[in-house]
Amino acid sequence: LDDRRRLPVIWLSFQECTGCSESLTRAEAPTLERLLFVFISLEYHHLLQAAAGTRAEAARDEAREREKGGYLLVVEGSIPTALGGACATTAGKSHLDQLREFAADAAAVIAVGGCATDGGLPAAAPNPTGAMGVGALMEAGLVATRPLVNLPGCPPLPVVLSGTLAHYLAFGRFPDSDEAGRPRAFYGGTVHERCSRYHFYQQGLFARRFDDEGARQGWCLYELGCRGPVTRNACASHKWNGGVSFPIQAGHPCIGCSESGFWDRDGFYRPL
Ligand code: SF4
Ligand code: SF4
Ligand code: F3S
Repeated sequence: LDDRRRLPVIWLSFQECTGCSESLTRAEAPTLERLLFVFISLEYHHLLQAAAGTRAEAARDEAREREKGGYLLVVEGSIPTALGGACATTAGKSHLDQLREFAADAAAVIAVGGCATDGGLPAAAPNPTGAMGVGALMEAGLVATRPLVNLPGCPPLPVVLSGTLAHYLAFGRFPDSDEAGRPRAFYGGTVHERCSRYHFYQQGLFARRFDDEGARQGWCLYELGCRGPVTRNACASHKWNGGVSFPIQAGHPCIGCSESGFWDRDGFYRPL
């Protein structure tokens, strides 16, 4: 990369709720403003672009041609595969076809959030749209294989998004990742390992109802179905809202939102 040139980024939104984009807007290191005005050239993004309609689609397609082989593709949302991909379209083109086209010409792909990494909420049983994540489509040979990093979470932490982008900008590659394609820096440990209630877990002090004395004392939420022990994420150390808090600190068990298939797994609020 020419170090005076901003990295072109095309952000495609498929079956999603925009929560992942919302998370990016809370990024602090670097901030969204610095990313947009100093480091990246955001060529297309449903939530953040000023353009709309055919002009926006034309700008996206023009960027793809101009930056062929050099842009970073970010995917937010799952990709429906049932009925030939007809369940979700943008500007008359199925999301499956869009991903095929834009992945083929990308330097690398970031799958943002559980929807893009493994289908997420849209893939919850009975998965009527045949929703799939980017990696599974690449493995199935339905989408060109490109360097891929997976950032699970519903949504991922802001610093996971901005930090991964910053690493790619600095080194021209994704951070060291595990077998599931998740950066070890953020997903290398469980929520449980760094949890502020961990000492209560060790002492066997558990809240058993949301309104009992244990809950008021801030005891461990394991008996209320906390998935922290089996959830790999950095919430307990990096936290949300500028490092202010995270679900467990606010009194709610972790529901394992960065683990594959968490919508269908076990059910929330039941001990493991
Ligand atoms: Fe929304 Fe969660 Fe999907 Fe992100 S992963 S688009 S927050 S449902
Ligand atoms: Fe572990 Fe959850 Fe208890 Fe925290 S609240 S110590 S993550 S079981
Ligand atoms: Fe998700 Fe659990 Fe963190 S629910 S936000 S992984 S604490």
